[in-house]
Amino acid sequence: MTWFLFLTWRMIVPVEPCGLQASPVALFAVNQEKRLRPAAIQIDYKPDSPVFSPVDGGPWMLARLAVQATDYAHSQMIEHLLKIHLFAEPFCVVLHRQLSSKHPLNELLKYHCRGVMATNTIGSPSLVTPNGYMDQLTAMGHKGTLLLMELGYKTLSWKDTDFYLDIKKTWPR
Ligand SMILES: [Fe+2]
Repeated sequence: MTWFLFLTWRMIVPVEPCGLQASPVALFAVNQEKRLRPAAIQIDYKPDSPVFSPVDGGPWMLARLAVQATDYAHSQMIEHLLKIHLFAEPFCVVLHRQLSSKHPLNELLKYHCRGVMATNTIGSPSLVTPNGYMDQLTAMGHKGTLLLMELGYKTLSWKDTDFYLDIKKTWPR
């Protein structure tokens, strides 16, 4: 029997007064049916935070919920909104303002940029504003969302655009 272990750690900003959003550490394993399954979850990254496993019943389900909620917030706000939509916008603005409509790059990117600009202008504000979707759907609320994105922006670099490096990070040899 071979088990592979994967560790994930997502940092989410706790926001008072709710302060409910944790930064869980999740350990995953591939079982005999070759399915990736959570094996243990530490509810927060702090050393004294409790650790749960599948034998813990109800608390295990809550720990899994904490990981899913944290992963949702991180993937939507950092990996999707920040690294895709907001990162692409300046390039789309430059494309529109500086390149001829006949330029080969314009031909390649115009359809992609049309979607980015429309979504950023119409959709993105409803995600992060007070009483917006993240405010209503997550414990960190809109203030936590903005703090999370600020932290994500500060750690963003050109290396994040390197697809090969990203694959290597995700699938280490
Ligand atoms: Fe999108």
